[in-house]
Amino acid sequence: MTKLHENENKVDKKKLYYIETWGCQMNEEDSEKLAGMLENMGYTKSNVRNESDIIIFNTCCVRENAEFKVYGNLGELKALKKSNPDLIIAVSGCMMQQKGIPELIKKKYPHVDIIFGTHNIHRLPELLNNSLQGKSTLIEIWDAEGDIIEGLPIQREGDIKAFVTIMYGCNNFCTYCIVPYTRGRERSREPDSIINEIKELSSKGYKEITLLGQNVNSYGKDLNNMSFAELLRLVNQVEGIERVRFMTSHPKDLTEDVILAVKECDKVCEHIHLPVQSGSTQILKKMNRKYSKEDYLGLVEKIKSKINGVALTTDIIVGFPGETEEDFSETLDLVSKVEYDSAYTFIYSVRKGTPAGKYETQVPETLKHERFNRLVELINSISERKNREFKNKTVEVLVEGYSKSDESRLTGRTRTGKLVNFTGGDINLTGKLVNVKITEPQTWTLQGQLICD
Ligand code: 5AD
Ligand code: SF4
Repeated sequence: MTKLHENENKVDKKKLYYIETWGCQMNEEDSEKLAGMLENMGYTKSNVRNESDIIIFNTCCVRENAEFKVYGNLGELKALKKSNPDLIIAVSGCMMQQKGIPELIKKKYPHVDIIFGTHNIHRLPELLNNSLQGKSTLIEIWDAEGDIIEGLPIQREGDIKAFVTIMYGCNNFCTYCIVPYTRGRERSREPDSIINEIKELSSKGYKEITLLGQNVNSYGKDLNNMSFAELLRLVNQVEGIERVRFMTSHPKDLTEDVILAVKECDKVCEHIHLPVQSGSTQILKKMNRKYSKEDYLGLVEKIKSKINGVALTTDIIVGFPGETEEDFSETLDLVSKVEYDSAYTFIYSVRKGTPAGKYETQVPETLKHERFNRLVELINSISERKNREFKNKTVEVLVEGYSKSDESRLTGRTRTGKLVNFTGGDINLTGKLVNVKITEPQTWTLQGQLICD
């Protein structure tokens, strides 16, 4: 473990930073750390890109679309840099860990000042200072992961809910996925560091913690003295924290111990995000997922029988190479059987350097889109049906503040992760657990009325 000393190079006058983040919660947490380091240097957050002194794009490369968006945005910055040559433009994140991309960016977008990767975000202050003194693009990418850096400053987005990364990297090498190449092998944080961070969050008034990792069920395999189930039980004891969530769980590693911990720990919410990716056993094999459709359905049965009222959500990829109509109907069948509360659906995107990117049986784009639409329709109809069951029921909501879509209503989530907008309360309820009667369930949101005790 490496401890980072506070950076002493502070800026003199008020300088603004702007960070744009693409991709998963891990990237969001990395951006919070980048923001923390900049704040420590004396920079102030801005929500207006064009008025900032430093702009950082924290990129994702899980799908090709995410990359296109980054290139489009980099192109837009050219004119801005011309009108403000002192502007610093930095690009970081998973996309930069891919071979050839940093060099391509340097060549095509020479107005970029700093390029760094996922393994060296703690180097931002030094890179920034070097860049402020020189002119040409600085590229610093670490190929290997190195030590976990503890003690980085962090400027979190919210003040009620916080992400806490418990492990980095992934060892699974699903054949479609670029993450093991960009985030490296699995490394678990020491339990003491995690618990201390959560205690500190509690002392600052945070109420909900989401434990993050590409596969949280592998937590502790490299530590020898702690499993994920044990960690959940420890986190459950932190005073002041009301809710604990975790993601993501790989179905092959979700053990009985974890199911029991979710059932028995009062703060651990009854919600499991359990990416299935496909309902076809032969596609799952080609994806290197290491479970069959039947294994997955068996696990779901076990979870549902042990955890009362559990919500299940998932990730599904449509149009993996070689996916036939029959394979796809296995996915539809699985979705109908599990009855997910919600699902993230993705159209398969070829990722260079992954095994599936070389498979010759790629599914035509139009067919992928057609299957995608059919799947989304099914998922929406299930969500809508399940939400309708909430009519006139009372749910516990952790209040997050006023709703963005309707500022006369408060907003929050149930323990199972459902978004609830409701009337009858004011901003002072933020951070409190309240009971809300659901009056109007919709496909994505539950509308309700506060119940006063
Ligand atoms: N194409 C489409 N979706 C992908 N995912 C990962 N790689 C790809 C890809 N190449 C999806 C998986 C994963 C989620 C985070 O992104 O469903 O669980
Ligand atoms: Fe990618 Fe599979 Fe690892 Fe998830 S478990 S990050 S899908 S390789």
